[in-house]
Amino acid sequence: MSNIKKAIIPAAGLGTRFLPATKAMPKEMLPIIDKPTIEYIVEEAINSGIEDIIIVTGKGKRAIEDHFDNNFELEHHLKKSNKLDILDKVHQSSNVNIHYIRQKEPLGLGHAVWSARKFIGNEPFAVLLGDDIVKSDTPCLKQLIDKYDETGLSIVGVQEVPYDETKRYGIVDFLNKNGNTYEVRKFVEKPIDNPPSNLAIMGRYIFNPELFTYLSEHKKGAGQEIQLTDSIEELNKVQKVLAYNFEGKRYDVGEVTGFILTTLEFALMDERYKLPIENYLRERGYTNEN
Ligand code: G1P
Repeated sequence: MSNIKKAIIPAAGLGTRFLPATKAMPKEMLPIIDKPTIEYIVEEAINSGIEDIIIVTGKGKRAIEDHFDNNFELEHHLKKSNKLDILDKVHQSSNVNIHYIRQKEPLGLGHAVWSARKFIGNEPFAVLLGDDIVKSDTPCLKQLIDKYDETGLSIVGVQEVPYDETKRYGIVDFLNKNGNTYEVRKFVEKPIDNPPSNLAIMGRYIFNPELFTYLSEHKKGAGQEIQLTDSIEELNKVQKVLAYNFEGKRYDVGEVTGFILTTLEFALMDERYKLPIENYLRERGYTNEN
């Protein structure tokens, strides 16, 4: 049994890349096919053994709370009309407790995670960001939890990205590699030039609670925001933080092109939509198949 039972999901961002869609709707509620992106993240946490999730919200995020609540009227209606397959999809899992806290000011990701410190207390915990959905045999977070259980060290999930995209991510300067695991010399948030590698932090983390010591300092970093990566770098100086190149395909839903491609790919993997979409693409000459 793992010690990692609690997870933080920061969801307080303004979603400016998706405006105007996100003017009155949280970006975490934008759906890939028929499921809000944040539900994929919550499912990954549940499938990794997490029992308590705290979602850090901000202004205008009420829809997230409503989504993870049970909707008695809707469920009653679905039961009465015998739509049991849909009922199954809207009924909330009782395998997890979801809690909410508001980040008082949008001061950055590090500050959002710090806002949940009282909920975490003195235990190791997970953080999942909503901009990446990962499809893998073993849930991405579970892979990190297994590594934590083996080592007792904080772990950051990474994958390789093209060098010209490194400025969008936290990047790992590694000392050495053992299988999929790296010891890290330095964690750098969004390097403007000369990235030390193309291993990018992918929004899945396991931390020992000592991380909060550094988050409490509220130091501003890249983009004048309180960066999570900067506290990881501080923690790594006193207590190793590993990088783990997880198995799985990552879908970037944090920007518009990635979001559209994810929707298309998920639809093509879904028996309900595969055929009509393939036909559409073929008829309009978007594929080479006959
Ligand atoms: C955040 C982190 C960054 C990480 C990225 C992954 O950046 O600060 O280190 O690589 O998420 O999605 P953001 O995308 O919130 O600017």
